Order: sequence, then structure tokens, then C-alpha cells
Amino acid sequence: MNPPATQDVTVLDLPFFDAQVSDVTLGSEVARLLEQNHSLPGVIVMNKKRFRGMVSRNQFFQRLGRPFGIEIYSSRAITAFLDSLPAPPLVVPAETTIQNAAIICLARPAENVYDPFVVSGKDLPPRLVDFLALIVKQTELLTAAQIEAHAQRAAAISASNAKSDFLANMSHELRTPLTAIIGYSEILIEDVKAGQIDGAVPRLESIAKSGLHLLEMINGILDLAKIEARKMDLFLTTFSLPDFILEITALALPLMKKNDNEFKVTSDHAVVEMHSDEAKLRQSLTNLLGNAAKFTSRGRVTLDVQKETRADGDWVVFQVSDTGIGMSEEQMGRLFESFYQADSSISRRYGGTGLGLSLSKQFCEMLGGNLTAKSALDQGTTFTMKVPVRSKEPAGNASDLR
Ligand SMILES: Nc1ncnc2c1ncn2[C@@H]1O[C@H](COP(=O)(O)OP(=O)(O)OP(=O)(O)O)[C@@H](O)[C@H]1O
Ligand SMILES: [Mg+2]
Repeated sequence: MNPPATQDVTVLDLPFFDAQVSDVTLGSEVARLLEQNHSLPGVIVMNKKRFRGMVSRNQFFQRLGRPFGIEIYSSRAITAFLDSLPAPPLVVPAETTIQNAAIICLARPAENVYDPFVVSGKDLPPRLVDFLALIVKQTELLTAAQIEAHAQRAAAISASNAKSDFLANMSHELRTPLTAIIGYSEILIEDVKAGQIDGAVPRLESIAKSGLHLLEMINGILDLAKIEARKMDLFLTTFSLPDFILEITALALPLMKKNDNEFKVTSDHAVVEMHSDEAKLRQSLTNLLGNAAKFTSRGRVTLDVQKETRADGDWVVFQVSDTGIGMSEEQMGRLFESFYQADSSISRRYGGTGLGLSLSKQFCEMLGGNLTAKSALDQGTTFTMKVPVRSKEPAGNASDLR
């Protein structure tokens, strides 16, 4: 949680003393009161319900210590002391910020800069506040503000580094399939010129594959840019959830076979119709299943679909679990960052751009849901995607295609 902004904290938030005496109280009684309670920085003097003045411990005992001080102030009403003061006490309005109160207090003459002060507000009995309490609070706020500023700076640097890393990575990623496309095309041209067309099909296949990979990357970058610019629309339709699961299963099966993974789909069949953005759900789920398939070898991947009923409505919970390589706590901490891959060898070994999860999470959130993950190194991973059975059109989006 963020600390309160310095300007939101006022003198009303400071601890205070409600030590009050009447203006007819004798000086000797005030002296006794202050002697009995060492933490009291002073007392407020009232005339019935009206504020009459403030006795500061320091100033009062200084006066008593002067020649004839005890004779002059002890046996008379405390007003005699108040009337002897060169200036009235410092009274600050309740809405004064800690920062401003500190400036006002510190501007007092050197001999009473450490005196307590009075906080006054409408319908509020005057409060006596210790100067030290003000300074402690101000230091606390400044320290919290400094820590917050450091954290924001670190987050900004980390985001900027992530983008620079991404750009460096991406130019390499974009160049690799492009180089393949250009290389194979040039060989093909030479072959065709020489009348040799035997090896044409595998080369054309490589060109098509590289082109497809390039397209996926560019689409991912464009989607993220669209989300960042808040230009990504939702296209909500009503569709059959069982048909959707069948379709996803068919899409995922070839991916599972690639690494010899067993694939199991379970569902409670409790939700028949969903009102959601089918394409965004499909993209999110295929990424989760694609990741599970990619990072698991000769293991097991499961997709489980359940209904959850909560006070805020009905939800569909898609859970994708695998028995694959898993992730460390540190890797998990950055999992949903755009352009993040657990380490630099991932893109070389497994391909991908590190955009999938960031997109999946943002799609789920656009649908009013969320995406979370649990994992441990070498112990598999579980992603849980919760989306409302009926997503709502965001305010200002008129593109409902029902
Ligand atoms: N099921 C999983 N098991 C282990 N690590 C995973 C799993 N899912 C994701 N990760 C880690 O999180 C990283 C980010 O995943 P994400 O889907 O965003 O990117 P990607 O799969 O590498 O590329 P893309 O999805 O863009 O093709 C992966 O590179 C991998 O390091
Ligand atoms: Mg992925």
C-alpha cells in the first residue's frame, strides 16, 4: 500500500494532550500539574468554553525561576502568567499540513521554538500538540516519500531496461526469420534459373514457416501497442462453452504430441453459454496450453474447466497445469511483464517472443477477470484464468456484435 501523500496529512493526525485548566486556576496548581505529569508539554487555559491561552512548560518554569517568580505567579490566577507573555501562543488551523505546520513552528523566535502549539478547528476543542510529535511525524512522512520515490525510480528504470532489452531481442528475433526467408528465396531463384526444382518444396515450406513466425511476432507487438494506447476493443458474443473447449482441445493436441505429452481435458459442464470475447479467450488459452506443451517433455498437461459461483456473479475457471520445467520464485515475480522470458536461452531453445503471457493477462483483465500462476522449479506450473460467464462491455465501447 502506498503511504499517504505528504500533503494529505494534517495536524489533526498528530497525537495531542487534552490537558486543560480554567483561567482562574492558581499558578501553583498548574505547576503541580506539570510536575506530576512529566510528559505534558504544557496546558491549555480556558475561560468557560472559550480558548484563553496556553501555558508552555518551558516558559512557565523559566518565569517561576526568575527573581520573585514564585511570589508573582504561584499565588495568582494563571492569567497573570498569560498576560506577561510577549506574544500569544501559536494556534494553527486543523487543516494545516504537517509540512506547513513545521515551517510555521520553526519560524518562531529561538527562545520558544520548542514550545507546544495549539490546533483549532470548527466544533473541535483546542488541542495541545507537542512540537516533537510534529517533527517526528514530518520525518516519518519525508522518509516514506523518499522510499516511494526511490521505488518509483527503480520501477521506471526496470521498465525502461525491459523495453531496451526487448528492442535488442526483438531486432534479433525479427532478423532471424527474415534472413531465412531471404536466404531460401535466393537459393530458390538460383535453382529455378538452373532448372533444378527438386528441392523447391522444403525450401518453400521453410519460407512459409519463417513468414508465419514473423507474422505472429508482429501481431503480438501490435496487440500490445494497441492495449497500451487503450485502442483494443472487446467483441462480445454469446457462444457455446462446450464447443469452444472442443475447438481449443483440437488446436492444442498437435502441440502436445510434439513433446510426447499426455493431454487431458476435464470439465464440470456447468456452463453452457458464455458471453465473452471468444477470440481473446482463445488466444489466451492457446498461449497457456502452448507454454505448457513447450516447457514440458514426456509429461502431462491438463485443462480443467469449472464454474464458480460467487456473490459477484458466475465465473468460468480455466486451469492449465503441467508437469514441466517450472519456474523459480524470481522468475515468477516477472512472469507477466511484457517481453519477459525466464532467461535468454529460452528464446533460442523454445522460440517465442515473451509477449504471450502479458497479452493473455491483459485480455483476461479486459474481460473483467484475472490470470494467476503457481509454479516451482522442476515441479510443473499451474495457470488459473478466471473470467465472468457474462463479460460486460467497457464504458464507451459500442462494438457489441451479438
Ligand atoms: N508452463 C510454463 N512452464 C515453465 N515456464 C513457463 C511456462 N509458461 C511460461 N513460462 C515462462 O514464462 C515466459 C513467458 O511466457 P510467454 O508465454 O509470455 O512467452 P513465450 O511463450 O516465451 O513467447 P510467446 O508466448 O510470445 O510465443 C516463458 O518464456 C517461460 O520462461
Ligand atoms: Mg507463450
